[in-house]
Amino acid sequence: MVVKVGHRGAAGHEPENTLRGFRRAVELGADMVELDVHLCGSGELVVIHDDTVDRTTNGTGAVSELTFEELSRLDAGLGERIPTLDEVIDVADREIGVNVELKGLGTAGPVHEVIEGAISEKGWSRDGFIVSSFHLGELAAIRELSDQVRTGVLLARDRGGILEFAELNKAYSIHPYFGNVDSEFIGEARDRGLRTFVWTVNDPADIGEMKSLGVDGIISDYPDRI
Ligand code: G3P
Ligand code: CA
Repeated sequence: MVVKVGHRGAAGHEPENTLRGFRRAVELGADMVELDVHLCGSGELVVIHDDTVDRTTNGTGAVSELTFEELSRLDAGLGERIPTLDEVIDVADREIGVNVELKGLGTAGPVHEVIEGAISEKGWSRDGFIVSSFHLGELAAIRELSDQVRTGVLLARDRGGILEFAELNKAYSIHPYFGNVDSEFIGEARDRGLRTFVWTVNDPADIGEMKSLGVDGIISDYPDRI
């Protein structure tokens, strides 16, 4: 069965990367939620896609220059706050998995710490998490910290060498843009022991095509369509 992943929560239905969106993904039957993390000015891991708050909140400024208190005062849509990674993990509450995308640089160590905390203190199992990134350095950094964490290598298009990197990283999965995959790519990934999770697939016809290609996971703003 294909793994159904709610993109930024359930961004087609609710404000992206908000607790409201993550709760909606659970209700819609997603197997996992995908989210983006950055470090804010006061050092907390916050769940937001861009490196500024301008597009998704009523504020302005760089996430890295705003304190958690300042970020908490902003409206991220329908009165929602920008959540922390810990808050999203508590909403998922082991019912569904969490795909943490390391969007900001320097997030590998803090995310590893939060995941280890969820495993030791909240009863999560390691396979409840996939840590993905376009930043190969962040993926290498998290692999240095743990040989068990599941990593996912994000890419738009394979320009050569990415499957080799993923295999060397002992990645769990490879996460390409859905428009750039074909059965040959999926087969080569599989031969290297890698699952393929595609993003961001919203059109039902495209979702059907990805299923027939045999992908392992589909990341969608509408997890209910998968
Ligand atoms: O994780 C897949 C997808 O979220 C990557 O692109 O820009 O939506 O973070 P983006
Ligand atoms: Ca993302």
